[in-house]
Amino acid sequence: MGIWSRRKFFLMSLASSFTAGAGKLLAGSLPANEAPLRAAAVPGTRPIIISSANGLHALDKGMDILRKGGDTLDAAVAVVTVVEDDPNDDSVGFGGLPNEEGEVELDASVMHGPTHRAGSVAAVRRIKNVARLAQTVMQETNHVMMVGEGARRFAVAEGFEEMNLLTEHSRKIWLAWKASSSMNWRPGVDSPEWKEHVRAIFDEDEAKIAYAERVIAHPPTGTIPCMAVDEKGDISATTTTSGLAWKIPGRVGDSPIIGAGCCVDNEVGAAGSTGKGEENIKISGGHTIIEMMRRGKSPEEACLEALGRIARNYNNDKKKLSTFHIFFYALNKDGVPGAASLWRNHYEEKGHSVYAVHDGTQARLAECKPFFDEINAHG
Ligand code: GLY
Repeated sequence: MGIWSRRKFFLMSLASSFTAGAGKLLAGSLPANEAPLRAAAVPGTRPIIISSANGLHALDKGMDILRKGGDTLDAAVAVVTVVEDDPNDDSVGFGGLPNEEGEVELDASVMHGPTHRAGSVAAVRRIKNVARLAQTVMQETNHVMMVGEGARRFAVAEGFEEMNLLTEHSRKIWLAWKASSSMNWRPGVDSPEWKEHVRAIFDEDEAKIAYAERVIAHPPTGTIPCMAVDEKGDISATTTTSGLAWKIPGRVGDSPIIGAGCCVDNEVGAAGSTGKGEENIKISGGHTIIEMMRRGKSPEEACLEALGRIARNYNNDKKKLSTFHIFFYALNKDGVPGAASLWRNHYEEKGHSVYAVHDGTQARLAECKPFFDEINAHG
């Protein structure tokens, strides 16, 4: 199995059930010698629903709701709930990689275009379905954003189940990270015995060891944004995440920030993001994309504009920019999707970043336009 991660393997299994061409899909990347399933811009169509690549297998659920005339936010939340429930996706919900204390803390937001409403939750512990919780904040309160302990207690009052969100898989990776990063834990920082220690934690399972090594070297910020447009042109979006692995407790990324990790204007379209949230927050990426689309840019062009602003924050210094990765995803009111990534792909030496699109025929992968053509190790 080599260096495949659980998530890569998971994505590959899912993709292969949709199309043979996706059989080599790895962590949202396609090999360079393999044509993306939809290389060119995807034409506008309604209804349509899109997400980051880790939502590929769940888009059917959202499309079913849209086809039956259901609400666009219900459709988007239904998609990400599948991923939040999945212990094998360690970027979101149950099984998400924890903070530095070993506690999973989740962030999520929703925007409902037709009623111009929003809801969001941040740094929530012990509640799995935080996208639905953000929707509940929107529907049941006069607030937009709730955080931490207050958000958890609100969830319990609203009937959400409390649970331990740390899976055995996530707990073991956290233990390996602790051993690599703290003087107080044996075998200690930079110790030659560290690798042996990790081998023992994962019972010599090479794939798990390689995956743990990678997420320890490059703490991921995996997330799932999902955006939907119905037949009438109404639009909603949600973004949900366990945030940056090994973060300081209380750190909040872009996912729950309306106008950064999630943004909807029912006259224009929707935008979302994955990757290093701090960079998105500094440019209000979601709002930037909406305003660019309002001025006539395509969703893909608008995503590239947001990436350009991030690059400009670093004077286009590729060395500094290579310390992170970020993706933007957008959908306009006509049902045209687009996405762009700061770097050409995540983990593979050759390939393209991809996102997931369901335009009424079937869920498939489309290519993210890279801002820089080089690869990057961060995910
Ligand atoms: N984009 C997810 C995060 O930074 O938390």
